[in-house]
Amino acid sequence: MRDVAVIGIGMTQFGELWGKSIKDIFVEAASKAIKNSGVDHIDSMYVGSMSSGLFVGQEHLGAVLADYLGQTPIPSTRVESACASGGAAFRAAYFEVASGASDIVLAGGIEKMTDGADATDALATAADQEYEVYQGVTFPGLYAMIANAHMNQYGTTREQLAAIAVKNHRNGANNPNAQFRTPITLEQVMNSTLVADPLRLLDCSPVSDGGAAVILCSMDIAKKFTDTIIKIKGTAQASDTIALHSRKSLTTLNSVVTAAQKAYKMAGVTPKDINFAEVHDCFTIAEAVVYEDLGFCEKGCGGPAAQEGRTAIDGKTPLNTSGGLKSKGHPVGATGIAQIIELYEQLTGQAGKRQVKNAHIGLAQNMGGSGASCVINILEAK
Ligand code: COA
Repeated sequence: MRDVAVIGIGMTQFGELWGKSIKDIFVEAASKAIKNSGVDHIDSMYVGSMSSGLFVGQEHLGAVLADYLGQTPIPSTRVESACASGGAAFRAAYFEVASGASDIVLAGGIEKMTDGADATDALATAADQEYEVYQGVTFPGLYAMIANAHMNQYGTTREQLAAIAVKNHRNGANNPNAQFRTPITLEQVMNSTLVADPLRLLDCSPVSDGGAAVILCSMDIAKKFTDTIIKIKGTAQASDTIALHSRKSLTTLNSVVTAAQKAYKMAGVTPKDINFAEVHDCFTIAEAVVYEDLGFCEKGCGGPAAQEGRTAIDGKTPLNTSGGLKSKGHPVGATGIAQIIELYEQLTGQAGKRQVKNAHIGLAQNMGGSGASCVINILEAK
């Protein structure tokens, strides 16, 4: 397999984009990525989208977006893995370049969630219909069960979860593309509206519109365009039971553990080598559990890590410097690609006030549902 690099990025503002259609949003992000990379063509494209059919009534998205981007007749494929669709699209693009089938490939992600359908119901289609959704539980409820189990098993506190939201809003305040650029306090999180006990409004990622795209190419081509080579060092994907009740433990996400082991092996690194990470904080408890399952610390220390500043920008392992899903927003299909964009900006020293010192290796962890799918990508500045 050939070495593959990321050479260009582009994304839209995340938020409630009332004036823009799904096509407008994608074309804006993808055009920015193509321009940013400097390439004069792309050979192929993959687009992550969880549920454009339910959200805006548009399927056949690969073809629709290639058409509006002016890229027909290149192959264009929509990739779906619930909220991990963006990460999965990036992985598909990686393999197309690594295999030698194409030289330059666009990996994008898109979701337009604020038009039309009830977002909670549409999102819940990623959970087990018979055993979870039919009984009335949706994603805030599923993650609330994980939070209660984690609190019970490890003594994780409400304050520790709130510290994750506070940290991510602090980071997002410095991200011009973030949906919520307002710093928040511990008290605001603890007193926000209860959504699913113990999770409150400010523990939840929002409902968002947004698009993101990156350009991947073979290493030989990358060297012609830039001196700052961002290499894809590892990529892995794993799955787990769709329903929480089928798992041995509610407090370990097996798809994260498995994908991390494989990605570390491919990259030839251990958690200690990762300088910073973007992780899937769809709810604050998710960031705590994922931090542990990525092997950054022992089980149970995900809560204290945030409270003690270990995951802050100047901490030992900065997490979600972009603001994460919590503050940057979570247009589900776009999230995995937006994570890669934050890695790229950090690794190329373009993250401004969010810049992590000595950022050489970054990890992006993107997750579908309550962890039934997980994609991990590791990037390195060469
Ligand atoms: N973080 C911060 N502020 C938020 C917010 C969030 N997650 N969600 C909404 N707000 C703000 C809104 O901007 C609004 O502020 P305003 O009154 O100043 O305009 C206010 O809170 C109320 O917003 P509203 O849209 O009425 O909230 P809601 O009750 O309809 O939705 C949630 C709130 C938490 C239920 C919804 O955002 C949600 O379901 N999030 C989870 C999404 C999800 O499950 N994603 C997939 C994960 S696997």
